[in-house]
Parts: sequence; C-alpha cells; structure tokens
Amino acid sequence: MNEEVDKQRRKALVAAASVVGGAGVVAAIVPFIESMEPSAKAQAAGAPVEVDISKLTPGELLTVEWRGKPIWVLRRTPRMLETLKEVRGQLKDPDSKQSIQPDFAKNEYRSLKPEYLVVVGICTHLGCAPTFRPDEAPSDLGPQWKGGYFCPCHGSRFDLAGRVLKGSPAPTNLVVPPYRFLSDTRLLVGAETEAA
Ligand code: FES
Repeated sequence: MNEEVDKQRRKALVAAASVVGGAGVVAAIVPFIESMEPSAKAQAAGAPVEVDISKLTPGELLTVEWRGKPIWVLRRTPRMLETLKEVRGQLKDPDSKQSIQPDFAKNEYRSLKPEYLVVVGICTHLGCAPTFRPDEAPSDLGPQWKGGYFCPCHGSRFDLAGRVLKGSPAPTNLVVPPYRFLSDTRLLVGAETEAA
C-alpha cells in the first residue's frame, strides 16, 4: 500500500473517530481497522517511524507524523546552538525539570546529538501548532527573539530547543518523544531510547 493511500485512510479514521459517539460509529471503525494491512495497523497503534534525514540541510525543519502527532526534526546550525546559551535567562524551565523528555534529552540541547532537535510540534498550553520562526529579531517578535517557535493562539514562545520562554502561557517545554539514531542519516522516532 502506498503512503498516499495510508494517509487517506488515516484521515478517514480520524474523521470517523471524531463523530459524536455511539455503537454505530464503533461498528463502522472496527471492520475498517481489520481491513488495514499490517503495516498500517502498526502505524495506527503508534509503531516507531523511521525518518530519513539525509537531505536535511543545516537550519532546515522536517515534519513527520508519529501516533497522529507532528514530530519536528530540526537540524541546527552552529549559530542556532549558540542562541541556546544566550536565551537561558529568559527561560521558564531551562533545565527541563518540569518538562517531558527521555533522560538523554534532559540537557541544554534537549537532544541526543546537539545538531538535531526532535520534538512534538504541539504547544504545551492548549495544543495549537506553533510556527517555526528561525529568523533573529524579526519586527513582529522583537529584538530579543533569537529564533524558535511561536504559537499564534495565545503567544507562547519557545527557543530552538523547544524550551518555553518566561511570560508565555505554555507551562512547560515542548515534549521530546523517544527516538534513536539507526545511522548518521536515519532516525527511529517512537523507539525505545538508546545511546547514539
Ligand atoms: S495553545 Fe499555544 S499559546 Fe495557547
């Protein structure tokens, strides 16, 4: 089954699941899931997702889906890594003590390898989708802005490690999912964590 068909089916499943409950809906979904091929069933259940990062250029963001959630993979430039130190005083939880991530990501980069950030692209306030704003000091975000993610719903700001800035309604940093590197150019998102 090709990826496009998989996507269509996932969309159809989400649409069906969001209809207000009732036995009819459940009856409609179960045969649908049974009709899915094994790989599609595994995806729907949250199986790990392999990601090819070989074409990701420095500064670029890639979005993949895991368990129905957008996962961002950002390849950070040396300048982007520098900004993580510069914004430290502006952060609510710089050491990620209150935030959700695997143990290996409880560091200032919030990642296994400093160059690659992997986070769930969902605002920790009320679940909107933040926008990627890597530009420094743009007129709409102000001179203090060093690049990061901005949530348009209620104005939460996150740095390039997904750490939330003070003054944002979001309480915690963006969530880091479990992941590991299969090679220098392949990631497995959702897998049990291991050292790189
Ligand atoms: S949902 Fe992002 S700031 Fe409210």
